[in-house]
Amino acid sequence: MERNRRERNSRLLITGGTGFLGSHIAARLLQDGFEITLLARPSPEATAEQRVQRIMDWHDIPADTRRRLHVVQGDLCHPGLVPDAATRCRLLAEVDEIIHCASETSFVERKRVQIEEVNLRGLERLLDFAASGRCAAFHYVSTAFVAGRRDGFCAEILSTAREFHNAYEETKCLAERLVWECCRREGILTVICRPSIVYGHSRTGRSLLFNAIYHPVRAAVFLRDVFLRDIRENRGERARAAGVGLDPGGTILHMPLRIQAEGPGIDLVPVDFFADAFAAIFATALEDGIFHLVNGRPTHVGEIAAFTARMFGLRGIEAMSAADLDGSPRSAIEAAFEQMVDVYRPYMSDRRIFAREKSGPIFARAGLECPSFTFEVFQRCMSYAVDVGWGKTSGQRW
Ligand SMILES: NC(=O)c1ccc[n+]([C@@H]2O[C@H](COP(=O)([O-])OP(=O)(O)OC[C@H]3O[C@@H](n4cnc5c(N)ncnc54)[C@H](OP(=O)(O)O)[C@@H]3O)[C@@H](O)[C@H]2O)c1
Repeated sequence: MERNRRERNSRLLITGGTGFLGSHIAARLLQDGFEITLLARPSPEATAEQRVQRIMDWHDIPADTRRRLHVVQGDLCHPGLVPDAATRCRLLAEVDEIIHCASETSFVERKRVQIEEVNLRGLERLLDFAASGRCAAFHYVSTAFVAGRRDGFCAEILSTAREFHNAYEETKCLAERLVWECCRREGILTVICRPSIVYGHSRTGRSLLFNAIYHPVRAAVFLRDVFLRDIRENRGERARAAGVGLDPGGTILHMPLRIQAEGPGIDLVPVDFFADAFAAIFATALEDGIFHLVNGRPTHVGEIAAFTARMFGLRGIEAMSAADLDGSPRSAIEAAFEQMVDVYRPYMSDRRIFAREKSGPIFARAGLECPSFTFEVFQRCMSYAVDVGWGKTSGQRW
């Protein structure tokens, strides 16, 4: 397939190219020499083309590489995917392989209709497109969490889960089955990649998205700032009432916060490893397959709490199991924190272990090893997040 791709000058269609992972895949495969078309939506302020060019600026993609980049305005919620029949016909004749990375990634239940519309109906439209043209391979970016509500070993096979933590997990699981069945029927090579939780670049700290692992850290920093303001501007009465105060040196804030966490921890993958791992699977997967893009060494929530305390001048944050909490009532700080991180709480007590039996050997052959989530990596990523206002400044540009 790899040799054929090069010889035929394969044209790839990528969805989700204005997003975190899709833009990394696009940037990576452009640099690898591929001819790429991105299906992208416009925003109220910018055309699809402008949005893609801005994100390619962020990735520092040189002008000559961008000659192999084409943008087509499209939307998975549009019946024909693209606004006009002529563009659809042209794409049907051109596209050799599809990398489907677009998704509604919200975990909140009130967005269920939108999540189903994009992750299932939108996917069906794209599969219909794949089946109508000359598409030879469909690469679906799924998630390791299709495993659903369960503990223990999760294999690199289609998930049979029936219970999920949210509509996102549920639709991604159903989506894998849709992809698998349709592509099998149509004789299209099917490659499903399942990342766990992806964060910024392990060496630069840069990221485009500040959800998941960033969110609880940001919540703790937000609470810290509320109490620091109270101490500095209002004599600290609220802080004292909550048992919060500055240490004698005046630089460390004691803020008692018990975080409920069970199990071995969170499987975290930096985006540089994700991009390399995806490219390795893309290059070598010659038959249908499902691959976990995971670290394999989970990071315990207690370690993330310790990193947060060390970097942000805090004391008193600790992870505890439900047994250790022993039903004791939550303090106001703990209740506020739990509310802020509510949708991520199942992932803080994750007991799912993701197999690497199929993906591991591919990574080993490519000389890839997932970097560890050390304090230095954490610090780089969180410094970048703070610099860009946790995405407020960078996130709006595209
Ligand atoms: N980030 C992670 O940690 C992680 C972990 C596991 C799996 N994944 C999977 O990786 C994929 C990418 O996630 P991400 O983190 O990169 O998310 P993201 O940054 O939110 O990107 C989502 C992308 O989907 C596009 N999209 C959404 N609705 C669309 C529609 N109706 N039509 C066309 N495009 C649409 C978005 O376009 P706009 O820019 O126009 O909104 C954006 O480009 C998803 O399939 C997700 O399930 C991500």
